[in-house]
Amino acid sequence: MPKITFYPYRKSGDIPDGTSILDAAEKLGLQMRHDCGGFATCSTCRVWVIEGMPNLTEIDLDEENMLEEAQLTAPFRLSCQAKMKGDVIVRVPDEEMEWSRGALRELDALAPSIREIVRMMVEKRARAKGLSAILPDTAIPLVAEVKKEVEALAGDPDQLAALIKRIFDLPE
Ligand code: FES
Repeated sequence: MPKITFYPYRKSGDIPDGTSILDAAEKLGLQMRHDCGGFATCSTCRVWVIEGMPNLTEIDLDEENMLEEAQLTAPFRLSCQAKMKGDVIVRVPDEEMEWSRGALRELDALAPSIREIVRMMVEKRARAKGLSAILPDTAIPLVAEVKKEVEALAGDPDQLAALIKRIFDLPE
C-alpha cells in the first residue's frame, strides 16, 4: 500500500492504492479544507507535493482548469483530485492570511510559477515577525525580499528546493 506523509503535521500512514490525498488525510484524522466538497471547483484543498509527484494520477481537465484559475502550478495539486499510486510526501498550506490591497498587487504581479511559493514564504516570515491574520501594506518590502530570493534561485531548482525545505522544516 502506498505511504503518505503530511507536513507540517508529520503524520504518515499506509493508504489503499487509488485513494485521493484528501481522503487519505481524513483516514489519518486530519482536517483539510475542501470547500466545494471535492468537485475541483474551489482549490481550497490544494497541497504542495514535496515528493512523489509521479506517484499521483495525471491531472485531468477539471483539475487543470481549477489550477489555472487559482494560478497554481506544479508542485501544487488539488488533493481531492490527485489519487495515490505510490508513496508521496505533501505539505498542507497554512491558513491563508488576508493581504492588504497593496501587498496583494505585489503578489499578483509575480509569475504564476512562483506566486504560491512566495505567498507561503511571506506569510511564514510575517507570522515569525508577529503578524497573524492580516498582511498590511507595510509588509510590501517583505514580498519584494522573498520575490528576489526566489527569483535568484529560479534557475537552480535544487537550491530553491533546499531553501524551501529549510524554511518549512521539511525533510532534506
Ligand atoms: S475540494 Fe474544492 S477543489 Fe478540491
